[in-house]
Amino acid sequence: MMDITPLPPRFDSPLNARRSTPSRLLAAPGPDADQLRQLLAWAVRVPDHGKLAPWRFVRIQGAARQRLGERLAIRGRERDPSASEASIEKDRLRFSHAPLVLAVIARLQAGHKIPEQEQLLSGGAVCFALLLGAQELGFGAQWLTGWPAYDPEVANWLGLAGQERVLGFIHIGTPTESVPERERPDPDTLLSDFDP
Ligand SMILES: Cc1cc2nc3c(=O)[nH]c(=O)nc-3n(C[C@H](O)[C@H](O)[C@H](O)COP(=O)(O)O)c2cc1C
Repeated sequence: MMDITPLPPRFDSPLNARRSTPSRLLAAPGPDADQLRQLLAWAVRVPDHGKLAPWRFVRIQGAARQRLGERLAIRGRERDPSASEASIEKDRLRFSHAPLVLAVIARLQAGHKIPEQEQLLSGGAVCFALLLGAQELGFGAQWLTGWPAYDPEVANWLGLAGQERVLGFIHIGTPTESVPERERPDPDTLLSDFDP
């Protein structure tokens, strides 16, 4: 069992409180236009070997969230005709809680001298930067995937090209309740010295 007592922070920083807010606990208001621009400006400052910008964003907001949910319910049933009503309802509501969802799309260049792994990792950093940025602006956020991130039909709806992949859906909004601390690994147990 992991020790759930968080390590006492040695430095005062918002990073000490970094955590996700489950998407079902996110409500309006979400970021306004200026806040979204700021969030994206922070996100694109991630390390990016070769300056490829191997990522882009698809904004899902307003009624598009419910329309996507309706399609997901139909697609969910197609993928699994024996799916329970509860799971279809979950699909219908997946994108309906947070007022803003940013799909982070990896645009990988195959065969480039910058390995695909590095392009992918840069995209992961973008996702995390969005979480940090949302928290910095006073919002809650959660990085979700689930089957819609890997479904070719959903990829078509989002307008993805052949090489593109969904790295995550970043749900952003105002937390409706505070989220308890989650157990975290003790970093001391993960650190070893290289000692040739
Ligand atoms: C790539 C990726 C995909 C994730 N997808 C899901 C998901 O589909 N459903 C889910 O409950 N959590 C998912 N998570 C976990 C949440 O983003 C989050 O880490 C979790 O709610 C714990 O909160 P924390 O960020 O405070 O540790 C995913 C995390 C990552 C990195």
